[in-house]
Amino acid sequence: MSQEKDVLILAIESSCDETAAAVVKNGREVLSNVISSQIALHTLYGGVVPEIASRKHIEKINQVIQAALDEAGVTLQDITAVGVTYGPGLVGALLVGVAEAKAIAYAAKKPLIGVHHIEGHIAANFIEHEDLEPPFFSLVVSGGHTHLVRVKDYGKFDIIGKTRDDAAGEAFDKVARAIGLGYPGGPKIDKVAKEGNPDAITFPRAHVEDAPYDFSFSGLKSAVLNYINGCQMKGESYSQADVAASFQKAVTDVLVANAMHAVEEYQVDQFAIAGGVASNSSLRQAMKEACEERGVKFYYPSPVYCTDNAAMIGVAAYYEYRNGVRSGWDLNAVPNLKLGER
Ligand code: KG4
Ligand code: ZN
Repeated sequence: MSQEKDVLILAIESSCDETAAAVVKNGREVLSNVISSQIALHTLYGGVVPEIASRKHIEKINQVIQAALDEAGVTLQDITAVGVTYGPGLVGALLVGVAEAKAIAYAAKKPLIGVHHIEGHIAANFIEHEDLEPPFFSLVVSGGHTHLVRVKDYGKFDIIGKTRDDAAGEAFDKVARAIGLGYPGGPKIDKVAKEGNPDAITFPRAHVEDAPYDFSFSGLKSAVLNYINGCQMKGESYSQADVAASFQKAVTDVLVANAMHAVEEYQVDQFAIAGGVASNSSLRQAMKEACEERGVKFYYPSPVYCTDNAAMIGVAAYYEYRNGVRSGWDLNAVPNLKLGER
């Protein structure tokens, strides 16, 4: 019996504020997943400062990659191919990872595979769910994106809906800042909301006219700011926990409503959430219940694979590798890369 050789991907991710590297075996087995987070640094400024992010990536990237190789117990010679996020993201941040991946792949004479960041987020679901295979639907909710996606096959996507303005995570971060929770807002709102009443304040649930799968969060964000200003003008205090819980419920309601609309319309039987906001406890619970009610299998990654990491990029790179995708030595960072485009 012939035995196929293992495919080992060294993956690099530097699109925002995490410098990350991982080694992934045969698409689904994570041998190492090293993340150097800059969150503490950006917290000082209340959000990600692109210039600082690039500088930190350049400082950390070599150590992070070495640690990923060491932890996996492999050398560059053992690696089959190098995968790297080349968009979307902050251009200066992306360039650090892309330049590094090109240099390594060129020197070690390995194929190079440019990966779309959102494809990576979706692929994170394959790590812990052996049974999950396309076709399925996915809701990708992160700091930069809110996409409802039909995953037709590995590396093949249709975008069914997306946000018209703010991303879900961006709304979490802005509201958190407004109510004094600081950066990054998502996990802080998630925590504080547990002490609050989600029905205390009725915030708007926006539906985009003639586009049932699109999202809009800027009105919700403004409604929260107006509520806070209103309280302050009247000299009244407001409950941080109630605002957090009510805002979180409004976001969750809209995400779940659009997702379930798609489930019914497209007769979906498997649904996977992805991205930083996919670790939100209220969203996970509500999606789980809504999927169960409809007999849909529901998948979500562990929190470490929801927020930015390189393991997810390694998984996506593996499937692109199997599809025959190879990037040239002219691979560049594409800050506004569209999902499904190369
Ligand atoms: O996927 P990610 O790490 O980076 C992007 O690709 O954008 O997502 C980061 C976003 C941030 O906006 C953060 O506030 C949000 O994910 N986030 C959360 C939670 N954990 C992270 N939002 C809501 N609840 C959480 N538990
Ligand atoms: Zn991300």
